[in-house]
Amino acid sequence: MVCKLKGRHFLTLADFTREEIETLLETAKDLKLKAKRGEFPPLLAGKTLAMIFEKPSTRTRVSFEVAMLQLGGHALYLSKNDLQLGRGETVADTARVLSRYVDCIMARVYSHSTVEELARFSSVPVINGLSDKYHPTQVLGDLLTIWEKKGKFEGLKLVFVGDGANNMAHSLLYGSTIMGMDITICSPKGYYPEKDVLDKAKEFAKRSGSKIEILSDPKEAVRGADILYTDVWVSMGQEAEKAERMKIFEPYRVNNELVSLAKEDVIVMHCLPAHRGEEITDDVMDGPNSVVFDEAENRLHAHKAILALIVI
Ligand code: CP
Ligand code: NVA
Repeated sequence: MVCKLKGRHFLTLADFTREEIETLLETAKDLKLKAKRGEFPPLLAGKTLAMIFEKPSTRTRVSFEVAMLQLGGHALYLSKNDLQLGRGETVADTARVLSRYVDCIMARVYSHSTVEELARFSSVPVINGLSDKYHPTQVLGDLLTIWEKKGKFEGLKLVFVGDGANNMAHSLLYGSTIMGMDITICSPKGYYPEKDVLDKAKEFAKRSGSKIEILSDPKEAVRGADILYTDVWVSMGQEAEKAERMKIFEPYRVNNELVSLAKEDVIVMHCLPAHRGEEITDDVMDGPNSVVFDEAENRLHAHKAILALIVI
């Protein structure tokens, strides 16, 4: 199994089987356990990760950098404007050149096609550290959190309340349906998942036996939820739509009333950064059902697993 992951790009969860995701999760769990005991196996000694950022980041940047350090390797932070990429060098040439120096490239980009192009021209694995369409490394960490908190995936219902067409909704659709978890996307009409993503998720759901629901009424959607997930109403790159989105998403706030309609032991998740008072209230973020900071921590362990398994 390990050999099957070596050298692979990590652009979307749709490229991985359930068994491969289980291997990643088991590796993450093992590396987390070791780290808690103060053990840091130098699996990537002498290896370097280049991290290209077109957009800001706290969690992804820091957790990937720390992950490389804890595995005995090194990470380089490269903001787009510090690279010749910002002055017109092509994505393809950037990928070709970086591949001659480093062992893996992680990139956070506006357009998903940029990370696909990097992968096409790179001779080392490329990791999608968030694009407009997907956020797969986040959802791998989220699956680790759900597994830790609930001990399983099958039979669980995850409800995502927010922008159903954003990177988080799309990656949660893949992660849930591949792992056999039911998923409900609850969004205003016009903000439903993109068709190609939904079609692919339906195929995964057929295979795993999970269910997909697309709804517009948050109160109806959260009934029976084991996991209640939300994300910002305005993703990076959508700032021009802010005023319109703030109005449209107003009824989609995750507050205590909404949480009380889900299962009593529901866990509340958010990829962060949260806009407190917008998509989630302070009392829910800081309340007894919230697991958001465990979730943020698990990015580190999940990223160590990705790096340890894909870097050659
Ligand atoms: N969740 C997440 O990707 O956070 P950052 O934008 O801080 O990396
Ligand atoms: N949907 C959000 C996720 C941030 C981690 C964004 O793209 O801004």
